[in-house]
Amino acid sequence: MQAADISTLEAVALAATRSAAVAGHAWVGRNDQNSADAAATSAMRAALAEAPGRGTVVIGEGEKDDAPMLFNGEVVGNGHGPDFDIAVDPLEGTSFCARDLPGSLATIAFGEPGTLWSPGPGFYMDKIVVPPRAKDVVDLDDPPERTLAKVAEALGKDVADLRVVIMDKPRHKELIARVLQAGAAVQTPAGGDVGGSLAVLMPTHDIDLLLGVGGTPEGVMTAAAVRALGGGMLGRLAPQRDDEADAIRAAGMSLDRVYACDELVAGDAFFVATGVNGGPLLGRPRTADGTTITESLLISRGQIRHITHTTFD
Ligand code: FBP
Repeated sequence: MQAADISTLEAVALAATRSAAVAGHAWVGRNDQNSADAAATSAMRAALAEAPGRGTVVIGEGEKDDAPMLFNGEVVGNGHGPDFDIAVDPLEGTSFCARDLPGSLATIAFGEPGTLWSPGPGFYMDKIVVPPRAKDVVDLDDPPERTLAKVAEALGKDVADLRVVIMDKPRHKELIARVLQAGAAVQTPAGGDVGGSLAVLMPTHDIDLLLGVGGTPEGVMTAAAVRALGGGMLGRLAPQRDDEADAIRAAGMSLDRVYACDELVAGDAFFVATGVNGGPLLGRPRTADGTTITESLLISRGQIRHITHTTFD
């Protein structure tokens, strides 16, 4: 096995999310989630086949929805280069894409072999994501009021000045009410907790923390970005159905264990996203006069690079 310097794979990761975004974009507003997901997945798979090395999909996406996916354990790459692990969601925010609502992204995280946490049969996890200055103060067992107080103090703000992202899901009704009651402002997108977490990490976005339960693949990809930027993240499996809980227990995994960011991603890793249908983070692919223009983020080793890429057809 060759020692991995995964930064050599950044270009291929960008090519993979760009391909997925362009393919997914063709399905924007067509009310067909599965076709959008299938197009993005197959474009990402084709791009990853060119990767110089041998990659293993540690965590794919789609199992919880029976959507088309790059499946766990799938091997990608041309074999000529380092070994690496990947976590993928070729179309994060599938329903946004299908309904042409902003926020859909093509996403991937690359890590050194053995560094990306596998959630086994767990589809959902409870998450807290905070910026670097609050990384040491959060605890998933704290009530939300205490979390807000601690994060506010760490950031040198009042709780009333905090802005919190919590996905608008029935399971978060009480959480949202308590955060509002504590005095913080809440942004409640219908989905997309990768985008919400990126907003926490990016100084250009006015969000202080993300709370709530979302997907496990999204959690691992988020952790790659959080780790690369020195932010804070905690996660704990949070099954949403009895059969999911039973499967986690049968796999010998704990429902109580809290994973720190460096357990979710235990080594060098980077994260890439390309915009599919526009939104606060990234614009959608545009085609004009024989060119295709995409917008991507590459988060790696303490840097956020915002990349506008033009390809001439
Ligand atoms: P999809 O890519 O499957 O559409 O996921 C979007 C998303 O909102 C994620 O950002 C989030 O982690 C997850 O779904 C939450 O799942 P659910 O919508 O089942 O609560």
